[in-house]
Amino acid sequence: MKKLKALSACLPFLFLFSCAQQQHDNKDKGLETRIDNLLSQMTLEEKIGQMNQISSFGNIEDMSGLIKKGEIGSILNETDPQKINALQRVAMEESRLGIPMIFARDVIHGFKTIFPIPLGQAASFNPEIAEVGARVAAIECSSVGIRWTFAPMIDVARDPRWGRMAEGCGEDTYLTSVMGAAMIKGFQGDSLNNPTSVAACPKHFVGYGAAEGGRDYNSTFIPERLLRNVYLPPFEAAARAGAATYMTSFNDNDGVPSTGNKFILEDVLRKEWGFDGFVVTDWASASEMIPHGFVVDEKDAALKSVNAGVDMEMVSYTFVKYLPELIKEGKVKESTIDNAVRNILRIKFRMGLFENPFVDEEQPSVLYDTPHLEAAKRAAIESAILLKNDKGILPLNGNVKTVAIVGPLADAPHDQMGTWVFDGEKSHTQTPLHAIREMYGDKVQIIYEPGLAYSRDKNTANISKAAAAAAKADVVLAFVGEEAILSGEAHCLADLNLVGAQSELIAALAKTGKPVVTVVMAGRPLTIGKEAELSSAVLYNFHPGTMGGPAIADLLFGKEVPSGKTPVTFPKMVGQVPMYYAHNNSGRPAQKNETLINDIPLEAGQTSLGNTSFYLDAGFDPLYPFGYGLSYTTFEYSDVKIASSQLKKQDVLSISFSLENTGKYKGTEVAQLYVRDKVGSVTRPVKELKRFTRIMLQPGEKKTVTFELPVAELAFWNIDMVKTVEAGDFGLWVAGDSQSGNELVFKVTD
Ligand code: NOJ
Repeated sequence: MKKLKALSACLPFLFLFSCAQQQHDNKDKGLETRIDNLLSQMTLEEKIGQMNQISSFGNIEDMSGLIKKGEIGSILNETDPQKINALQRVAMEESRLGIPMIFARDVIHGFKTIFPIPLGQAASFNPEIAEVGARVAAIECSSVGIRWTFAPMIDVARDPRWGRMAEGCGEDTYLTSVMGAAMIKGFQGDSLNNPTSVAACPKHFVGYGAAEGGRDYNSTFIPERLLRNVYLPPFEAAARAGAATYMTSFNDNDGVPSTGNKFILEDVLRKEWGFDGFVVTDWASASEMIPHGFVVDEKDAALKSVNAGVDMEMVSYTFVKYLPELIKEGKVKESTIDNAVRNILRIKFRMGLFENPFVDEEQPSVLYDTPHLEAAKRAAIESAILLKNDKGILPLNGNVKTVAIVGPLADAPHDQMGTWVFDGEKSHTQTPLHAIREMYGDKVQIIYEPGLAYSRDKNTANISKAAAAAAKADVVLAFVGEEAILSGEAHCLADLNLVGAQSELIAALAKTGKPVVTVVMAGRPLTIGKEAELSSAVLYNFHPGTMGGPAIADLLFGKEVPSGKTPVTFPKMVGQVPMYYAHNNSGRPAQKNETLINDIPLEAGQTSLGNTSFYLDAGFDPLYPFGYGLSYTTFEYSDVKIASSQLKKQDVLSISFSLENTGKYKGTEVAQLYVRDKVGSVTRPVKELKRFTRIMLQPGEKKTVTFELPVAELAFWNIDMVKTVEAGDFGLWVAGDSQSGNELVFKVTD
């Protein structure tokens, strides 16, 4: 009874605050005493030094000088274990108080063994893939002394023009929350204290993915309710998963740059979620508040970021330069500095850096370990999305004697690794060309003729050679897409068509009359409608990493069966973006069979009657909806049942359904549960993903599957800016993508 009471006292809005309060109360008292003891011995300069992160400038002597004076708390971008140990030795043995440094790096989807880009991992709809990928990355990077990574990137992104969509988990709040939390678990392991654990840093806090026009660093205009319903939940899930640090984002939201945003850093992160780790700025994002027009100068930048709740500054040095005088002037309280340093020391203690500051240089290398490569291959297999497969052209069967391998991505070891790969080496990457030759060269004859040298190549001179190769083959495998450098930070595009002459290449191949299997490797969804139409099959891989080649080879030849689903909506044309399945309805929702541009009679009189919300030239539908992906086999959903369609707010919704493998291959389906809150105090999305699961079935096998969904998870931030479940009718779908399934209805009462 007592327990129940305690729980109900934690309900919706209060939940966040009172539970956060509890977390504070539960703090390890011994640890806090240690922190306070150390803090009491520190000079103001040493405290501010802890709040300063520099980027390694390689020269040990210069950096050592700063460390000795206690001017640095962290270094990013040093990866040489000998240098890391040497610098750490200075911190431990030559600085006055022997406070260890924490070494950081962007280890985003692998250190040496590169996994698919996070957008690809999200396509697996398998949190285990994300967790294992992060664990492998942690084991590899911690082996050289890196104990802090700037990942996961959990910015919900709904505009594929934005190059950084590649780094995140796509457009969906729930999918991003689940995958992000799994990555944190993988990076941080069972305990931060473990020498193979790496502190995670969910980023970019917050709203960065909504950059206007999909142009990087651009302003966002996200109202508080949307922020809370869509952009904040993955970060809240990250706090619950125990993320040790957070990074502020570059964007200003509604005029306030995140690095100076007290509301998100103090009110939400600390007070509502009870976060007790530390917050770092993004690269120079403190001083970048000057061009934003939010602060006058560097001194003002230091003032506004520290007072907003930033604990550590990345590279811009304004803290070290100006905090001493800001404190003297009484503009920053020393207690604010003390709190920031406490947050930093807390993580350094939790990571065991005081007891275990050095990396073992003698340890046998774990880089590119066989289990790591196997895990990367599994991730690439589960991340691949089959978008089209006419007449079962895939998997390639015994009748295929000769394949033509063409296209600029067939043998592009650097590019298939994708963005944010500082440490992966192309010499270790296995390309599709290499893998097909190695693994299937005894089964098929291979003619390799790339046609184009790289994705942006506009020189069409060799396309005819590729077409000639195609003419000699039974099937053409066309590897197209984007070079790694076309996505990622500061690499946005205004056009989402295939770059260079790749479209001409596909057209020339199709003209031969041979079946074309288009294999895409890219950092974002591209507008490939035209090329898909010319192809018999399309296998889409967000840059698949080190083991992309063997993974794709096994998929093409049927040793593996595709199971990935789109983690983002694929638009038909760029003008449709932002385009996402969880949109609100307009008052005039699009209907099927709208009158499109070519159906309008000449000199038609202007009227809005009967017209709805769609584009005359693109209609309303996407090229491929969110959650979509085919298999070599087929699945049938039936008997979708809600255990009880009248529920109270404290109940758990139980939905069961049957899934049958009705095809010829063993395969895995990602079953998805979507819900719609039909009427709210504010309008609600037409569908929201609430659960998903991967189900493996043998041919002919049928299973009953159950989703359990606490009604409390239907809560949203309503008209009063309170997170609550509103009573009323809800729609529900269980299906293999966001556009399929039949609607069931249930009711929630007070
Ligand atoms: C800037 C990027 O925005 C951020 O994601 C990254 O972690 C830092 N640079 C450090 O490299």
